[in-house]
Amino acid sequence: MSRIVVGVSGASGVVIALRLVAELCARKHEVHLVVTDAAKEVIKHEVGKAWRPPKGVVRHGLRDFRSPLNSSSFVTDAMVVVPCSMKTLSAIANGYAENLLIRAADTVLRAGRKLVVVPRETPLSLSAIENMTALKRAGAVILPPCVSYYHRPRGVDDMTDFFVGKILDALGMENDLYRRWGEKVR
Ligand SMILES: Cc1cc2nc3c(=O)[nH]c(=O)nc-3n(C[C@H](O)[C@H](O)[C@H](O)COP(=O)(O)O)c2cc1C
Repeated sequence: MSRIVVGVSGASGVVIALRLVAELCARKHEVHLVVTDAAKEVIKHEVGKAWRPPKGVVRHGLRDFRSPLNSSSFVTDAMVVVPCSMKTLSAIANGYAENLLIRAADTVLRAGRKLVVVPRETPLSLSAIENMTALKRAGAVILPPCVSYYHRPRGVDDMTDFFVGKILDALGMENDLYRRWGEKVR
C-alpha cells in the first residue's frame, strides 16, 4: 500500500482526478486529498454536482497549514496534481506556497519524492512552458492529458481511463486501463 497525495486544482478535466482517486481507493492505497476553491467550482460545472470522495480518503483543508502535508517528516510516496491549472503550475514552479496544495507539492519536491503534474491548458503561454521546464528540471513528471487515438478510444470514458492509466504508470502501478501499443484490440 502506498500513501499518495492528490491535489486537484481548477483546470478543466477534474473528472480525471475523480477517476484516479476512485482507482487508488479500489487498490487500497492511502489517499490524501487537497482541492482548491476553483476546482470545486469546475467540478460543479463539469461533473454537475459537488464531489463526495470515496470513504477512507483523508481530506485536507486548503488553508490548513497545520496539516501533516506541510512537513517532509510526514512521509508520502508520491503526489499527483491533477488537473493542474496554469496558476498552480506557476506557484509550484516558483515555490510560492500560498495554499496547502502548493506547499504539499513543494514538500514532495524538496524531499526528492515523486511529483506528477497534469497541466491542462491550450494553447500554452511562454510562462506556462517555462514553468513546466522548471518543474521538469526539479524532477517532476510532466504529464499533460494529451488525447491519443492509437488505443482506439470509444469515447470520453476510454480517454479518461487512458489518462488515469498513464498517471498510474508514472506512479509505477500496474494497470490495464488502456490498450498498450502492441496489445490486441479488445
Ligand atoms: C470551467 C472552468 C475551466 C477552467 N479551465 C482551466 C484550464 O483548463 N486551465 C487553467 O489553467 N485554468 C482554467 N480555469 C481557470 C482557473 O480555474 C483559474 O485560473 C483559477 O484561479 C485557478 O486556481 P487554482 O489553481 O487555485 O485552482 C478554468 C476555470 C473554469 C471556471
